Amino acid sequence: MTDIKKDVTILAIESSCDETAASVVVNGRKVLSNVISSQIDIHTLYGGVVPEIASRKHTERITQVIREGLEEAGKTLEDLDAIAVTYGPGLVGPLLIGVSAAKGLSFATGIPLIGVHHIEGHISANYIAEPTLEPPFACLVVSGGHTHLVLVRDYGEYEILGKTQDDAAGEAFDKVAREIGLGYPGGPKIDKASREGNPHAITFPRGKVAGSRYDFSFSGMKSAVLNYLNTSRMKGITVNVPDVAASFQQAVVDVLVSHAGEAIDQYGLKKFALAGGVAANNALRAGMRQMCEEKGAEFFCPPPILCTDNAAMIGSAAYFEYIKGNFSGLDLNAVPGLRLGQR
Ligand code: KG4
Ligand code: ZN
Repeated sequence: MTDIKKDVTILAIESSCDETAASVVVNGRKVLSNVISSQIDIHTLYGGVVPEIASRKHTERITQVIREGLEEAGKTLEDLDAIAVTYGPGLVGPLLIGVSAAKGLSFATGIPLIGVHHIEGHISANYIAEPTLEPPFACLVVSGGHTHLVLVRDYGEYEILGKTQDDAAGEAFDKVAREIGLGYPGGPKIDKASREGNPHAITFPRGKVAGSRYDFSFSGMKSAVLNYLNTSRMKGITVNVPDVAASFQQAVVDVLVSHAGEAIDQYGLKKFALAGGVAANNALRAGMRQMCEEKGAEFFCPPPILCTDNAAMIGSAAYFEYIKGNFSGLDLNAVPGLRLGQR
């Protein structure tokens, strides 16, 4: 166990998808800076993230983003106890840019390196949002690449209760948004359009996975929307976009909330947290909060800026590795398919 009598200051770097981010976090809970350089504008031109373009943009921006992260925090490299970086899962090119930058800094300064799992980062955003939160608790991680229902038994100790068998929730939002003409990124656009729509206008199926209580399936729900659109077009019926958006969103929220509710009942959970980009969704936050209230479980959800990709969450997860003495060598590599719990 590392000596932790003094404050632990960590510079964290995140570049797993289309955000170049750097943050300085103290003791895993206190964020001194949270710089996020988004590439949304350029990927919007192509209707989704183009990995090669993402890599180039990370390369262009990473040095400046790291510099800003330190400056905003009022810190220099000499003040740091560790340098943390997301090394998976994610897009291999974008991950490599962050990992290489972190390794270069660590090699040049001798500051210890900590490789962080991106999903552990998302879960840890809750430690920042609620400084008194401690395991055990359950967490639903819903992002563009992942949908995991997880028991957080202790810091860095996870049991996966269920995960998606096909599309991630955010992926389904993005694909449906594209089909109904809302464009990229789909989640926030469906969230916004839904405010003008009726969530009960169209009944889309609530995806189930045979024989599994906690796994998810969103591809059938997405196909049901596509079938509805095709059928309407063939019949010459004008599609009401806000109604389709609201009805699809309701179907996704119903599935996520019902799985979470079953876990709370089965495991007698007292604390339930949301994490990941889709956790920024207003209907999901409201539905989950209400369900938790009804079941007497405390509900936690980071503010939207800590739900979508950021480096502060990586700095938080890294702190709990730091106090266990889990450092990485300079042979740390990007692992695009890194599983939760795998090191
Ligand atoms: O966590 P994140 O920033 O990146 C990944 O790790 O994948 O999540 C991005 C996903 C995208 O699919 C995006 O459409 C979705 O989160 N998202 C939302 C909202 N904001 C972002 N989905 C639904 N409602 C939102 N408000
Ligand atoms: Zn993410």
